[in-house]
Amino acid sequence: MDLMTHPVFRRFWYPTHSLTALADGPQAFTLLGEDLVVWVDEAGKPAATRDRCPHRSARLSVDSVVVDGNIRCGYHGWQFAADGMCKVIPQLPGDVPKNARNCVKSYRCEARYGFAWVCLDTPLAGIPEIRHADDPAYRQVFEYEEYWDANMLRVGENALDVAHISFVHRGTFGNEARPAAPELELVPLEGGVNFRCRVPVANHELQQKNLQIAAGETVRIVDIRWLSPCTFILHFTYPNGLVHQICGFATPIHSGRIRRIQFALRNDREEDAPAEDVARFDRTVAVEDRRILESCGSNYPLEVSEEAHMRLDRPGLAMREYVKALILEHDPNAEVLRDELARARAAALENAA
Ligand code: FES
Ligand SMILES: [Fe+2]
Repeated sequence: MDLMTHPVFRRFWYPTHSLTALADGPQAFTLLGEDLVVWVDEAGKPAATRDRCPHRSARLSVDSVVVDGNIRCGYHGWQFAADGMCKVIPQLPGDVPKNARNCVKSYRCEARYGFAWVCLDTPLAGIPEIRHADDPAYRQVFEYEEYWDANMLRVGENALDVAHISFVHRGTFGNEARPAAPELELVPLEGGVNFRCRVPVANHELQQKNLQIAAGETVRIVDIRWLSPCTFILHFTYPNGLVHQICGFATPIHSGRIRRIQFALRNDREEDAPAEDVARFDRTVAVEDRRILESCGSNYPLEVSEEAHMRLDRPGLAMREYVKALILEHDPNAEVLRDELARARAAALENAA
């Protein structure tokens, strides 16, 4: 079963582009298999519509421009407002006839944290609230937005996975000679999974400057949250009081591809650690994760018995339970899915024996 085709995922908000990227003009984007064009009007307000002109089916993302708050098709110049209404047909004098055939399907689209967010269907939850985002003591550092051939839920699971840091991140902050195995404190969280722990980390040269900690090792007080379905917040507090909070997103294009977006929030200043250096370190960490996550494939097994686990995987297993409950709660064919999961469990037990 391809989980990403489940309709419940259409009912969440996803960031698609930074508003900076949209300033270059309308951008094509595929969200959960649906082809969109995302654009900003002259006031910077984003909009998302189907990427197909109702006139002759040209993609609205090709050679289009924004004029008077409307997107203008590159083919014959018809203009559409953010709500999908056709506003101008240049070849037609007078008012545009109001009929559904002239219109293009539009989607909910909002600006938040400097990004355009889109929801394809009636939202089950709001755009995630991110701690410190409106706090003047914190600055926002944009880190990257790019495409990965990885599964959205595998990326969330990776954020909840402390054990991987010693190996995947041995080049940046991990130490393979001392595999991380901290005590995890799982904390109940509405809408996701949360845990806390304390992790010793290596502190190499660039990061020494970024953290203003000269020692070759330091400790992170860690609070990690996965917010269903595409957001993770990694809140790190260092011994000198510095907070470095990574806000990561894995926006699903389809089951095997995402747009990976990330920014950080920090309670220091540009003169303490240049944003460019902060982003460079986290970017290097992301390259390490990407390599492994792209190797994991597009499948995210809901049934616990389909893979092996260790004690440190408890946050990831809690996430699987959360996703399974979400799907069963919103599935008109819940019985079919229950049967499928039961068959997978039985097959796994048989293989294990
Ligand atoms: S195809 Fe868009 S205006 Fe003709
Ligand atoms: Fe990682």
